[in-house]
Amino acid sequence: MSAPRHARISGVGSALPSRVVPNSFFESLVDTTDEWIQERTGIRSRRFAADGETTASLASDAAGRALESAGLGPESVDLVMVGTITPERPMPSTAAYVQARLGMHCAAFDLNAACAGFVYGLSIAAAQITAGAADRVLVIGAETLSRTLDLTDRATCVLFGDGAGAVVLEPSDEPGVIASTLELDGTATELLTIPAGGSEEPASEASVREGRHLIRMSDGRAVFKRAVTGMADACASLLEKAGMSSDDVSIVIPHQANARIMTAVANRLNVPHERLFMDVADVGNTSAASIPIAIDHAWRQGSLQPGDVLLTTAFGGGLAWGANLVRWTAGAPSADRDDDG
Ligand code: ACO
Repeated sequence: MSAPRHARISGVGSALPSRVVPNSFFESLVDTTDEWIQERTGIRSRRFAADGETTASLASDAAGRALESAGLGPESVDLVMVGTITPERPMPSTAAYVQARLGMHCAAFDLNAACAGFVYGLSIAAAQITAGAADRVLVIGAETLSRTLDLTDRATCVLFGDGAGAVVLEPSDEPGVIASTLELDGTATELLTIPAGGSEEPASEASVREGRHLIRMSDGRAVFKRAVTGMADACASLLEKAGMSSDDVSIVIPHQANARIMTAVANRLNVPHERLFMDVADVGNTSAASIPIAIDHAWRQGSLQPGDVLLTTAFGGGLAWGANLVRWTAGAPSADRDDDG
């Protein structure tokens, strides 16, 4: 009998658009203050895509950097997945644009699990590799949420930012992606939604006039509570499934929605705050992109070392949530790279 085949992360990269948007930007648009935003969310600034920057361009930049860090060329990739709720176009997939931009010849598709898109993608990619269906998989989270923001709605417009992150997975003898858990409650779709632009309500003059093609969050407090419970419970059940405890976790990288949510999750898991990684202050909530961007930032600043046990967890529209346990295997980043991840 041959030894079991596992999957590991061999490279990571990210890309943020160049336009920095501080909290003060919103003070002239809605009734809010820099102080309120920082206190309630931990966000100081976020990036918004400039003209010409799109979900596919950011995704391609992040994927190119991830391949470079893995020492692989685009020809070696045989599957690309892009987690996004802000695709290049409704059809074809954003993954199709990324595949063409990087000159890859492989299967490629988008997946929509909102803010949990990367957690879902990592789990599916690892399963493809362990099943022997793929050898090298790019998992990308990429968003241009600025293009779906209602700049008259203070409850949502201050929360989100744009960006992309990507990881490369390859087969390994030892488990790199140790285990994952994926969950969804489809009875609460109205809590977080973009109501128009799909088959239920196709784009129309009225839908655009009423801003129904933009992000709506009906109850921020309810989302907050469900996010904390969902992520903490997913992490606890995943650790149990893997026969591990929070003491075994070197670093927790949650979906970067809000500093208070992340801190509450760490508290419930009894993880000391030194082991909680956050970059939400300067990135904001980038939905499916937030975890791979944060992994890239943690790795490039030396907070992720080979052998570390990484716990990721996310929660978002769907409501979809989940968690991944990963043993980190990528070596140190090369020092000579210019990286605006
Ligand atoms: N500036 C000033 N005041 C605001 C703003 C703002 N940007 N947004 C809301 N308020 C007001 C509310 O209108 C309310 O006013 P009222 O008391 O007069 O009615 C007051 O602040 C308090 O509102 P709450 O919603 O109770 O404030 P809370 O402390 O819960 O913070 C927040 C709001 C930051 C949205 C929080 O609920 C939250 O983070 N929820 C999770 C939302 C989230 O992360 N969504 C992203 C997608 S899902 C995900 O990624 C997990």
